[in-house]
Amino acid sequence: MTASSITIIRPDDWHLHLRDGPQMAAVLPYTVRQFARAIVMPNLKPPITTTQQALDYAARIRAAVPPELIAQGQSFEPLMTLYLTDQTSAEEIARAHASGVVHAVKLYPAGATTNSDSGVTNLDRCTSALEAMQRLGLVLCVHGEVTDAAVDVFDRESVFIDQVLITLRQRFPELRIVFEHITTRQAADYVRDADGPIAATITPQHLLYSRNAIFQGGLRPHWYCLPVLKREVHRQALLQAATSGNPRFFLGTDSAPHERSTKESSCGCAGCFSAPYALELYLQAFESADALDRFEAFASFHGPDFYRLPRNTSTITLSRIGQQIADHFPFPSGSIVPLASGEHLAWRVQASA
Ligand code: NCD
Ligand code: ZN
Repeated sequence: MTASSITIIRPDDWHLHLRDGPQMAAVLPYTVRQFARAIVMPNLKPPITTTQQALDYAARIRAAVPPELIAQGQSFEPLMTLYLTDQTSAEEIARAHASGVVHAVKLYPAGATTNSDSGVTNLDRCTSALEAMQRLGLVLCVHGEVTDAAVDVFDRESVFIDQVLITLRQRFPELRIVFEHITTRQAADYVRDADGPIAATITPQHLLYSRNAIFQGGLRPHWYCLPVLKREVHRQALLQAATSGNPRFFLGTDSAPHERSTKESSCGCAGCFSAPYALELYLQAFESADALDRFEAFASFHGPDFYRLPRNTSTITLSRIGQQIADHFPFPSGSIVPLASGEHLAWRVQASA
């Protein structure tokens, strides 16, 4: 029998880009409708590198939650992150941990993706910060791609495991690491089999699409994100990992809003805007694997358990009421196109309690 609705503990998004100012105000409501908390990425311009900046950013996010959603009883807690640089000190890590508001530090290899120019050039420069994180139990979120131009763009994640991640984890065996937005069979296997505290987030686009989607009948920039979509065998390995029930895998959309003209461009930005239909997209993927019963743990349990935070207690219901993904949404200086615009979804977010 196919279920006509599914009610789960309210999920959290463990990897989200909210931007700032009017852009943040435009995209935040989509997340608040579905998620109780989100790990908010620090790659603003300039990046969030200090605890004080993270506290100020958190206050701006809280102030931007629409009053009508609060009136409906929805609350939203931003879980902040710091952007690791060659200069991040052990004292800054201690302040971040003591704040209770910063829950992770993000490693972007310099130049790996959008706004990563201030990222880490050499992990040896981060030894004291990483030691402090390991001691305090502060999570390191990793964008796992090498940036070497000689490495094929489709191989950058698997080469990162061999050249960076294994050594990093040997040096800091107790460091709690989330391998963000994994895209390959190699990453899924590594996270499943490795010793010690490691987990991974998986996006809706990497569960639903292979790299063919970027070239379907022409060049489709709204399917371009980093790490880039991979071959079908990798998509299948990710779907298997997400639906396996293994607590090391959990939900992180990597929803990354860019105004339409900056994506439909001769040099288009990387990032898929999945926030408006995040849960429906994930549910579509889980249903394709006949694993609806595994969705709640992936979306609502494994993330808080790894981050050592309480699970949420309120619920959200999705019903089997079909809908078509909108062509675009309003966004400052233009519009924004959601992932899979125009496609049909079998599910729809209904009510929260
Ligand atoms: C992200 C962005 O636009 O900030 N883009 C993306 O393709 N995922 C950066 C990132 O997470 O790599
Ligand atoms: Zn991201």
